[in-house]
Amino acid sequence: MKSTQQSEFTMASGAMLLGVMGDPIIHTKSPIMHNAALKALGIEGNYVPLHIKPEGLEKAIQAILTLGFRGVNVTIPHKVEVMKYLDHIDEGAAKVGAVNTIVNNNGVLTGYNTDGIGYVRSLKEEVCPELRGKNIVVLGAGGAARGIIHALTAEQPGQISIVNRTASKAIELAQEWGSLANMQGLSEAEAQAAVNSADVLINTTSVGMHPNVGELPLPKEWIPEGIVVSDLIYNPLMTELLHVSARKGCSTHGGLGMFVNQGAYALEYWTGVDAPVAVMREAVLQSFKL
Ligand code: ATR
Repeated sequence: MKSTQQSEFTMASGAMLLGVMGDPIIHTKSPIMHNAALKALGIEGNYVPLHIKPEGLEKAIQAILTLGFRGVNVTIPHKVEVMKYLDHIDEGAAKVGAVNTIVNNNGVLTGYNTDGIGYVRSLKEEVCPELRGKNIVVLGAGGAARGIIHALTAEQPGQISIVNRTASKAIELAQEWGSLANMQGLSEAEAQAAVNSADVLINTTSVGMHPNVGELPLPKEWIPEGIVVSDLIYNPLMTELLHVSARKGCSTHGGLGMFVNQGAYALEYWTGVDAPVAVMREAVLQSFKL
């Protein structure tokens, strides 16, 4: 993968300081993943978890500059709020309305969103190399769905159907980005026909996430045999949706790939070199076994 931004970082500036800001942050797998990557690349540095409460976010961002961090990831609940403290917002992140990666270039802070592009990269690598012309159904219309749908529009899909419990959010999103791809917003009650003709079904809702691991985001009878079914959830690695879909002969794709690839793109923004994706994936997988 080519980095979309040339790094101005040089090793002469010392160890590379990186981190992730969130609240809570205790369960994050990002430090394990990024520190393994830095080691594999032979880059001296450290990636640390930073527990930042919402009221401390502005000062925490200033501290990036004071302490000379090369960059940070930002996660829940800061992805939207952080934008007002940055000097530049990348075009894709501005459209999505959220930032998960900040790069410090000599005191100038730029915000990117690598969630959507990381997701699409892993979907293509793992289960669906060609998305052009495909009928894609996305369950959910929240922040995660926005990043993914925006990245999917670059793949020239045949149609994207957005299905949401609160139908108005799905309809508004389909209208907002209707010029980027053929899109429709649907209520859950209206969704069966779209799901029946789907080539790719993507769950972006939290239904099925630990501890509610038995739940399904749609009736299992709706899932066609042999399609691609993807779930953003990575705890558990195999959700009930993926279990049911696998039994129907579907190709399944879990959330681990998205997590790893959003991190890979972020690391490439910070270092300017290709991320060791296999090392990163293995580090996260190992940490689940601890
Ligand atoms: P994220 O950033 O993870 O997308 P979010 O912006 O809060 O989080 O969005 C959560 C999404 O999951 C929404 O689409 C939400 O539906 P609503 O817009 O109707 O709230 C969906 N979601 C969460 N819990 C759900 C449930 N029990 N059933 C159906 N959809 C659910």
